[in-house]
Amino acid sequence: MKTRRLTLICMVAATLLFQTTFSTRAAAQAADRSYVGAETCMSCHEEYYDSYLKNRHGIAADPRTPEAQMGCESCHGPGSEHADADGEGGIRSLKADSADGTAVNNAACLQCHSKGGQALWHGSEHEGRSLSCTSCHSTHNNYANNLAYPSQEETCRQCHKRIRAELLRQSHHPIREGKMKCSDCHNAHGTIADKLVDAQSANAKCFECHADLRGPFLWDHPPVVEDCLSCHTPHGSSHHALLNARTPYLCQRCHSNAAHPSELGARRSVDAGQSVYRVLNNRVFYRSCLNCHVAVHGSNHPSGKSLAR
Ligand code: HEC
Ligand code: HEC
Ligand code: HEC
Ligand code: HEC
Ligand code: HEC
Ligand code: HEC
Ligand code: HEC
Ligand code: HEC
Ligand code: HEC
Ligand code: HEC
Repeated sequence: MKTRRLTLICMVAATLLFQTTFSTRAAAQAADRSYVGAETCMSCHEEYYDSYLKNRHGIAADPRTPEAQMGCESCHGPGSEHADADGEGGIRSLKADSADGTAVNNAACLQCHSKGGQALWHGSEHEGRSLSCTSCHSTHNNYANNLAYPSQEETCRQCHKRIRAELLRQSHHPIREGKMKCSDCHNAHGTIADKLVDAQSANAKCFECHADLRGPFLWDHPPVVEDCLSCHTPHGSSHHALLNARTPYLCQRCHSNAAHPSELGARRSVDAGQSVYRVLNNRVFYRSCLNCHVAVHGSNHPSGKSLAR
């Protein structure tokens, strides 16, 4: 944890240095550009003006009020050069694939959104892969959270096709039913935990909704305490209950099937050479582990040591 925090601090320091360099360059480039006000932009971009007014940004900073005359230009930058040239260049397009590059695009948004949910953007997996804020967000539509597509799932699906496929499997968190969103578990802007999981750890995230499985139990099952994902997959599975594999194979990844005493031993002794008994070997018999070990997540029963009650 300590090293992680140190890495974070280094990243933030490097970013600050980078931003200073960047803003000096941008400042020089934009030195001869000045603000013209949203009304001027409107004269040529009526549609964008209208969509902006309906947007949270327009509502929060209504460009018709005197304090907020720079509405459009707070994101697109000062527009005099652009307006004077009848729209030929001289303005930030902010599109994810714009020639300005992601650092310029992102700095435009980060000047107002560098805290709260976006505080860990720098150093995040998405920043590292050169995503722009506008890979996921747009300003000129009315989708919730200013997303670039009608829903979160559709936004993420643009790039995460495999996750999309997992959600279509039989057992899945009810995301495609619209009862859950990616952001119930992830913060796309950056997190302390791995894989953009928005909690201290994956287990801490699971407990937010599955609190009944939070121990300690009188008899704990060690892998449950350690990592839910040693048995479950978060998005979707073709086995029941989001399991990584079917029982008994799941259990037998860790438990030798020679564990069971008495009868099994007896069977084993007659197993050799007798085809009728070979079928009854303990890989086949006893395979419904969960019929007996019902308390697989841990037991509070005084005699629940073997997780059977
Ligand atoms: C909160 C930031 C923000 C504000 C404020 C804003 N825009 Fe935009 N604008 C964007 C982003 C991001 C894009 C690119 C993605 C998209 O299409 O939404 C964009 C795209 C555009 C485009 C099209 C660019 C292209 O290449 O097709 C125009 C034109 C435009 N904006 C005009 C305006 C005008 C006019 C205003 C003020 C009425 C305004 N914008 C206010 C963020 C903003
Ligand atoms: C005199 C008319 C005019 C004015 C005033 C004007 N624009 Fe434009 N703007 C244009 C034209 C024309 C284009 C090119 C449109 C196209 O390619 O379809 C353009 C393009 C843009 C683009 C896309 C740039 C790109 O690289 O893709 C943005 C963003 C934009 N304008 C924002 C603004 C903003 C913000 C203002 C106010 C500061 C503004 N415009 C004022 C005419 C104007
Ligand atoms: C000048 C400051 C400023 C800039 C620049 C700015 N925003 Fe915002 N943003 C705001 C304000 C103010 C709100 C409204 C907050 C509210 O209503 O609580 C907001 C709201 C949002 C929201 C939430 C919308 C919702 O419906 O919940 C998103 C997403 C967002 N901004 C993304 C962006 C992106 C992406 C950019 C860059 C293209 C950007 N912002 C640039 C000030 C800014
Ligand atoms: C990979 C996709 C993605 C990228 C890239 C992204 N966002 Fe977001 N953003 C989202 C999603 C999804 C939500 C909605 C989260 C929710 O419902 O809690 C959101 C919500 C927001 C909000 C409103 C809620 C809040 O957390 O305050 C703001 C503001 C915002 N984003 C700004 C930004 C800025 C600034 C950037 C670039 C530095 C950015 N986003 C990059 C996906 C993204
Ligand atoms: C423009 C493409 C793009 C979009 C849109 C996008 N991502 Fe990503 N995401 C990536 C890339 C690239 C990576 C790096 C790893 C990879 O290739 O899978 C990544 C990685 C991740 C990771 C794993 C992080 C890690 O540490 O391994 C998560 C979780 C994630 N994205 C969630 C989301 C969510 C949630 C959304 C929607 C809100 C989203 N992404 C939208 C491109 C995208
Ligand atoms: C129930 C919580 C939960 C929800 C909802 C969720 N995820 Fe995840 N996701 C996780 C966890 C936990 C991991 C870490 C898996 C690991 O470490 O192996 C993860 C990992 C990922 C990864 C990294 C690649 C991988 O498979 O390990 C991506 C990409 C991702 N999620 C995208 C998404 C997208 C997109 C959505 C919405 C459609 C989504 N997630 C919804 C919990 C969730
Ligand atoms: C935001 C709340 C939320 C979080 C966080 C969450 N879950 Fe769930 N989980 C649900 C909901 C809702 C269901 C569906 C319950 C239902 O259909 O009755 C569910 C169902 C399940 C199921 C049963 C699936 C089935 O097909 O029967 C498993 C297993 C599961 N979750 C494991 C996890 C794990 C592991 C984590 C942590 C990575 C996690 N959950 C995080 C809300 C959540
Ligand atoms: C040793 C493997 C294993 C681990 C680790 C594990 N589970 Fe499970 N879990 C299972 C099995 C097996 C089932 C199916 C039980 C059944 O069908 O009766 C299940 C079922 C579930 C269910 C749905 C049924 C129920 O009991 O509510 C949820 C929710 C769930 N697990 C959450 C979690 C969470 C949260 C964690 C981490 C704290 C976790 N599991 C860790 C094996 C595991
Ligand atoms: C990731 C490895 C792992 C998986 C998968 C796993 N277990 Fe375990 N299990 C353990 C460990 C470690 C212990 C503790 C062993 C000890 O204390 O000697 C344990 C203990 C147990 C015990 C109690 C043994 C005792 O008497 O102390 C039972 C019963 C059990 N597991 C059943 C199962 C079943 C049933 C499954 C499949 C649903 C399963 N386990 C999956 C690792 C695993
Ligand atoms: C017919 C019921 C039943 C089935 C089916 C069953 N078990 Fe057991 N298991 C038990 C009982 C009862 C004990 C406790 C035996 C004792 O304490 O002497 C036990 C003990 C265990 C132990 C701890 C014993 C040791 O040697 O440490 C493990 C681990 C275990 N079972 C795993 C499994 C796995 C994995 C499966 C599926 C392949 C499974 N069991 C199927 C009833 C069953």
